[in-house]
Amino acid sequence: MTDVDPKIIDGKAFAAGLRGRVADAVAALKQEHGLTPGLAVVLVGDDPASHIYVRSKGKQTEETGMNSVQHTLPAETAQADLLSLIATLNADPQVNGILVQLPLPEQIDEQAIIDAIDPAKDVDGFHVVNAGRLATGGRAMVPCTPLGCLMLLQDRLGDLTGMEAVIVGRSNIVGKPMAQLLLGANCTVTIAHSRTRNLADVCRRADILVAAVGRPQMIKGDWVKPGAAVIDVGINRIDTGGERPKLVGDVDFAAAREQAAAITPVPGGVGPMTIAVLLRNTVVAACRQHGLADPNI
Ligand code: GUN
Repeated sequence: MTDVDPKIIDGKAFAAGLRGRVADAVAALKQEHGLTPGLAVVLVGDDPASHIYVRSKGKQTEETGMNSVQHTLPAETAQADLLSLIATLNADPQVNGILVQLPLPEQIDEQAIIDAIDPAKDVDGFHVVNAGRLATGGRAMVPCTPLGCLMLLQDRLGDLTGMEAVIVGRSNIVGKPMAQLLLGANCTVTIAHSRTRNLADVCRRADILVAAVGRPQMIKGDWVKPGAAVIDVGINRIDTGGERPKLVGDVDFAAAREQAAAITPVPGGVGPMTIAVLLRNTVVAACRQHGLADPNI
Protein backbone atom coordinates (compact mmCIF):
# COMPACT_ATOMS: atom_id res chain seq x y z
CA MET A 1 0.00 0.00 0.00
CA THR A 2 1.11 3.57 -0.58
CA ASP A 3 0.52 6.74 1.36
CA VAL A 4 -2.75 7.43 -0.46
CA ASP A 5 -4.15 4.73 1.83
CA PRO A 6 -7.35 6.32 3.22
CA LYS A 7 -6.50 4.92 6.66
CA ILE A 8 -3.57 7.31 6.94
CA ILE A 9 -4.24 10.47 8.92
CA ASP A 10 -2.24 13.11 7.07
CA GLY A 11 -1.05 15.43 9.83
CA LYS A 12 1.18 17.33 7.45
CA ALA A 13 -1.78 18.35 5.28
CA PHE A 14 -3.99 19.13 8.29
CA ALA A 15 -1.23 21.28 9.82
CA ALA A 16 -0.90 23.22 6.55
CA GLY A 17 -4.64 23.93 6.63
CA LEU A 18 -4.43 25.01 10.27
CA ARG A 19 -1.54 27.39 9.48
CA GLY A 20 -3.70 28.88 6.71
CA ARG A 21 -6.54 29.50 9.18
CA VAL A 22 -4.05 31.04 11.62
CA ALA A 23 -2.78 33.37 8.87
CA ASP A 24 -6.38 34.41 8.08
CA ALA A 25 -7.06 35.12 11.76
CA VAL A 26 -3.84 37.16 12.03
CA ALA A 27 -4.79 39.20 8.94
CA ALA A 28 -8.24 39.89 10.44
CA LEU A 29 -6.72 40.98 13.78
CA LYS A 30 -4.43 43.40 11.97
CA GLN A 31 -7.19 44.84 9.86
CA GLU A 32 -9.91 45.07 12.49
CA HIS A 33 -7.88 45.83 15.61
CA GLY A 34 -4.42 46.99 14.45
CA LEU A 35 -3.00 44.07 16.39
CA THR A 36 -0.09 41.84 15.32
CA PRO A 37 0.43 38.87 17.68
CA GLY A 38 4.02 38.22 18.76
CA LEU A 39 5.77 35.05 19.90
CA ALA A 40 9.05 35.02 21.82
CA VAL A 41 11.05 31.79 21.74
CA VAL A 42 13.89 31.32 24.22
CA LEU A 43 16.63 28.80 23.55
CA VAL A 44 19.37 28.03 26.06
CA GLY A 45 22.43 26.05 24.98
CA ASP A 46 23.38 24.29 21.78
CA ASP A 47 21.28 21.14 21.51
CA PRO A 48 21.16 20.63 17.69
CA ALA A 49 17.60 19.25 17.65
CA SER A 50 16.36 22.22 19.70
CA HIS A 51 18.03 24.66 17.29
CA ILE A 52 16.21 23.02 14.36
CA TYR A 53 12.84 23.18 16.16
CA VAL A 54 13.34 26.79 17.20
CA ARG A 55 14.29 27.86 13.67
CA SER A 56 11.11 26.21 12.30
CA LYS A 57 9.01 27.89 14.97
CA GLY A 58 10.40 31.33 14.08
CA LYS A 59 10.00 30.79 10.33
CA GLN A 60 6.42 29.53 10.58
CA THR A 61 5.50 32.34 12.99
CA GLU A 62 6.61 34.91 10.41
CA GLU A 63 4.93 33.04 7.54
CA THR A 64 1.57 33.42 9.30
CA GLY A 65 2.10 37.19 9.59
CA MET A 66 3.03 37.33 13.28
CA ASN A 67 6.04 38.90 14.96
CA SER A 68 8.74 36.47 16.01
CA VAL A 69 11.57 37.18 18.42
CA GLN A 70 14.21 34.68 19.38
CA HIS A 71 16.51 34.88 22.39
CA THR A 72 19.46 32.51 22.25
CA LEU A 73 21.44 32.19 25.48
CA PRO A 74 24.67 30.30 26.15
CA ALA A 75 24.57 26.83 27.75
CA GLU A 76 26.14 28.16 30.95
CA THR A 77 23.38 30.77 31.51
CA ALA A 78 22.48 31.18 35.19
CA GLN A 79 18.90 30.53 36.25
CA ALA A 80 18.62 34.09 37.60
CA ASP A 81 19.48 35.51 34.16
CA LEU A 82 16.86 33.36 32.45
CA LEU A 83 14.28 34.40 35.07
CA SER A 84 15.16 38.01 34.43
CA LEU A 85 14.61 37.59 30.66
CA ILE A 86 11.24 35.96 31.35
CA ALA A 87 10.24 38.89 33.57
CA THR A 88 11.10 41.28 30.72
CA LEU A 89 9.05 39.23 28.22
CA ASN A 90 6.13 38.97 30.68
CA ALA A 91 6.06 42.78 30.89
CA ASP A 92 6.40 43.41 27.11
CA PRO A 93 2.97 44.13 25.54
CA GLN A 94 4.32 43.22 22.08
CA VAL A 95 4.96 39.67 23.28
CA ASN A 96 1.75 37.65 23.48
CA GLY A 97 3.32 34.20 23.72
CA ILE A 98 6.47 32.94 25.45
CA LEU A 99 8.01 29.56 24.74
CA VAL A 100 11.14 28.36 26.52
CA GLN A 101 12.49 25.45 24.53
CA LEU A 102 13.00 22.29 26.63
CA PRO A 103 15.14 20.55 27.71
CA LEU A 104 17.13 23.18 29.62
CA PRO A 105 20.74 22.77 30.80
CA GLU A 106 21.03 20.95 34.11
CA GLN A 107 21.92 23.98 36.27
CA ILE A 108 18.45 25.38 35.53
CA ASP A 109 15.33 24.15 37.33
CA GLU A 110 12.81 23.64 34.51
CA GLN A 111 9.80 23.86 36.79
CA ALA A 112 10.96 27.19 38.25
CA ILE A 113 11.22 28.59 34.72
CA ILE A 114 7.79 27.32 33.66
CA ASP A 115 6.30 28.73 36.88
CA ALA A 116 7.77 32.16 36.08
CA ILE A 117 6.00 32.53 32.72
CA ASP A 118 2.81 34.62 32.84
CA PRO A 119 0.06 31.96 32.45
CA ALA A 120 -1.69 34.23 29.91
CA LYS A 121 1.44 34.05 27.70
CA ASP A 122 2.16 30.37 28.33
CA VAL A 123 1.51 29.14 24.79
CA ASP A 124 2.94 25.71 25.70
CA GLY A 125 0.24 25.29 28.36
CA PHE A 126 2.79 23.90 30.81
CA HIS A 127 2.15 26.35 33.70
CA VAL A 128 0.35 24.82 36.67
CA VAL A 129 -2.44 27.40 36.31
CA ASN A 130 -3.12 26.21 32.77
CA ALA A 131 -2.86 22.53 33.75
CA GLY A 132 -5.35 23.25 36.55
CA ARG A 133 -7.73 25.12 34.27
CA LEU A 134 -7.61 22.30 31.73
CA ALA A 135 -8.37 19.77 34.48
CA THR A 136 -11.27 21.82 35.84
CA GLY A 137 -12.82 22.88 32.54
CA GLY A 138 -11.58 26.49 32.58
CA ARG A 139 -10.15 28.70 29.84
CA ALA A 140 -6.68 27.15 29.67
CA MET A 141 -3.84 27.52 27.26
CA VAL A 142 -3.70 23.88 26.11
CA PRO A 143 -0.44 21.99 25.39
CA CYS A 144 0.21 21.94 21.65
CA THR A 145 0.87 18.27 20.92
CA PRO A 146 -2.19 16.80 22.66
CA LEU A 147 -4.44 19.53 21.26
CA GLY A 148 -3.10 18.67 17.79
CA CYS A 149 -3.93 14.99 18.40
CA LEU A 150 -7.48 15.91 19.45
CA MET A 151 -7.94 18.00 16.31
CA LEU A 152 -6.81 15.09 14.11
CA LEU A 153 -9.15 12.68 15.92
CA GLN A 154 -12.18 14.97 15.70
CA ASP A 155 -11.46 15.71 12.06
CA ARG A 156 -11.40 11.99 11.25
CA LEU A 157 -14.01 10.60 13.67
CA GLY A 158 -16.31 13.55 14.38
CA ASP A 159 -17.97 13.33 17.80
CA LEU A 160 -15.88 11.15 20.15
CA THR A 161 -18.62 10.71 22.76
CA GLY A 162 -18.64 7.33 24.49
CA MET A 163 -15.47 6.04 22.88
CA GLU A 164 -12.89 4.06 24.86
CA ALA A 165 -9.62 5.98 24.76
CA VAL A 166 -6.35 4.49 26.00
CA ILE A 167 -3.31 6.73 26.32
CA VAL A 168 0.03 4.99 26.80
CA GLY A 169 2.29 7.51 28.56
CA ARG A 170 1.72 9.78 31.55
CA SER A 171 3.90 12.83 30.91
CA ASN A 172 2.80 16.33 31.89
CA ILE A 173 3.41 17.43 28.29
CA VAL A 174 1.39 14.80 26.43
CA GLY A 175 -0.20 11.93 28.41
CA LYS A 176 -1.95 13.83 31.18
CA PRO A 177 -3.30 16.75 29.09
CA MET A 178 -4.34 14.28 26.36
CA ALA A 179 -6.42 12.46 28.98
CA GLN A 180 -8.08 15.72 30.06
CA LEU A 181 -8.90 16.64 26.46
CA LEU A 182 -10.39 13.24 25.65
CA LEU A 183 -12.37 13.29 28.90
CA GLY A 184 -13.63 16.73 27.88
CA ALA A 185 -14.69 15.18 24.56
CA ASN A 186 -16.76 12.60 26.50
CA CYS A 187 -14.46 9.59 26.02
CA THR A 188 -13.94 6.93 28.66
CA VAL A 189 -10.25 7.44 29.36
CA THR A 190 -7.52 5.12 30.62
CA ILE A 191 -3.95 6.34 31.16
CA ALA A 192 -1.60 3.38 30.85
CA HIS A 193 2.18 3.42 31.21
CA SER A 194 5.28 1.27 31.38
CA ARG A 195 4.19 -0.27 34.70
CA THR A 196 0.63 -1.09 33.59
CA ARG A 197 -0.23 -4.77 34.05
CA ASN A 198 -1.42 -6.55 30.87
CA LEU A 199 -0.68 -3.49 28.76
CA ALA A 200 -1.50 -5.34 25.53
CA ASP A 201 -4.99 -6.23 26.82
CA VAL A 202 -5.59 -2.68 28.00
CA CYS A 203 -4.62 -1.35 24.55
CA ARG A 204 -6.93 -3.87 22.85
CA ARG A 205 -9.92 -2.18 24.53
CA ALA A 206 -9.21 1.11 22.81
CA ASP A 207 -11.35 2.68 20.12
CA ILE A 208 -8.76 5.48 20.30
CA LEU A 209 -5.19 4.47 21.11
CA VAL A 210 -2.67 7.26 21.76
CA ALA A 211 0.97 6.18 22.05
CA ALA A 212 3.23 8.65 23.85
CA VAL A 213 5.85 6.58 25.63
CA GLY A 214 9.03 7.44 23.74
CA ARG A 215 9.97 3.81 23.06
CA PRO A 216 10.46 2.84 19.43
CA GLN A 217 7.74 0.54 18.05
CA MET A 218 6.67 -0.64 21.49
CA ILE A 219 2.96 -0.87 20.59
CA LYS A 220 2.52 -4.04 18.54
CA GLY A 221 0.05 -4.66 15.76
CA ASP A 222 -1.97 -7.21 17.73
CA TRP A 223 -2.43 -4.69 20.57
CA VAL A 224 -4.68 -2.68 18.22
CA LYS A 225 -8.39 -3.45 18.16
CA PRO A 226 -9.65 -3.94 14.60
CA GLY A 227 -11.17 -0.63 13.49
CA ALA A 228 -9.43 1.50 16.12
CA ALA A 229 -7.90 4.94 15.52
CA VAL A 230 -4.19 5.03 16.40
CA ILE A 231 -2.36 8.27 17.18
CA ASP A 232 1.42 7.88 17.39
CA VAL A 233 3.12 10.75 19.22
CA GLY A 234 6.54 9.08 19.30
CA ILE A 235 9.51 10.42 17.38
CA ASN A 236 12.41 8.02 17.88
CA ARG A 237 15.65 8.02 15.93
CA ILE A 238 16.95 4.51 15.43
CA ASP A 239 20.21 3.44 13.87
CA THR A 240 19.59 0.99 11.04
CA GLY A 241 23.17 1.02 9.80
CA GLY A 242 22.34 3.52 7.03
CA GLU A 243 23.71 7.02 6.57
CA ARG A 244 21.08 8.71 8.74
CA PRO A 245 19.06 7.39 11.66
CA LYS A 246 15.54 6.30 10.74
CA LEU A 247 12.56 8.04 12.35
CA VAL A 248 10.03 5.68 13.88
CA GLY A 249 7.10 6.14 16.22
CA ASP A 250 6.07 4.34 19.39
CA VAL A 251 3.84 2.05 17.29
CA ASP A 252 4.86 -0.79 14.99
CA PHE A 253 3.29 1.07 12.08
CA ALA A 254 3.30 -1.66 9.40
CA ALA A 255 1.53 -4.16 11.65
CA ALA A 256 -0.81 -1.68 13.36
CA ARG A 257 -1.95 -0.31 10.00
CA GLU A 258 -3.42 -3.72 9.13
CA GLN A 259 -5.69 -3.57 12.21
CA ALA A 260 -6.52 0.12 12.49
CA ALA A 261 -9.23 2.05 10.64
CA ALA A 262 -7.14 5.22 10.94
CA ILE A 263 -3.51 5.77 11.90
CA THR A 264 -0.94 8.59 11.98
CA PRO A 265 2.40 7.91 10.28
CA VAL A 266 5.84 8.93 11.59
CA PRO A 267 6.99 11.28 10.17
CA GLY A 268 4.04 13.29 8.80
CA GLY A 269 1.43 12.56 11.46
CA VAL A 270 1.39 14.28 14.83
CA GLY A 271 4.80 15.98 14.44
CA PRO A 272 3.76 18.79 12.07
CA MET A 273 0.74 19.58 14.25
CA THR A 274 2.76 20.75 17.25
CA ILE A 275 4.09 23.97 15.71
CA ALA A 276 0.81 24.67 13.89
CA VAL A 277 -1.04 24.50 17.23
CA LEU A 278 1.64 26.69 18.84
CA LEU A 279 0.82 29.36 16.25
CA ARG A 280 -2.88 28.93 16.95
CA ASN A 281 -2.26 29.24 20.70
CA THR A 282 -0.29 32.46 20.13
CA VAL A 283 -3.26 34.01 18.30
CA VAL A 284 -5.64 32.81 21.03
CA ALA A 285 -3.35 34.28 23.71
CA ALA A 286 -3.20 37.63 21.88
CA CYS A 287 -7.01 37.75 21.56
CA ARG A 288 -7.53 36.97 25.25
CA GLN A 289 -4.95 39.58 26.30
CA HIS A 290 -6.92 42.18 24.34
CA GLY A 291 -10.34 41.12 25.62
CA LEU A 292 -11.37 39.67 22.25
CA ALA A 293 -13.29 36.42 21.69
CA ASP A 294 -11.26 33.32 20.87
CA PRO A 295 -10.80 32.98 17.11
CA ASN A 296 -12.47 29.98 15.53
CA ILE A 297 -9.33 28.11 14.42
N1 GUN B 1 10.91 20.61 23.32
C1 GUN B 1 10.38 19.65 22.52
N2 GUN B 1 9.07 19.89 22.31
C2 GUN B 1 8.77 21.02 22.99
C3 GUN B 1 7.57 21.78 23.14
O1 GUN B 1 6.50 21.47 22.64
N3 GUN B 1 7.67 22.90 23.91
C4 GUN B 1 8.83 23.27 24.51
N4 GUN B 1 8.83 24.38 25.24
N5 GUN B 1 9.96 22.59 24.38
C5 GUN B 1 9.92 21.46 23.63
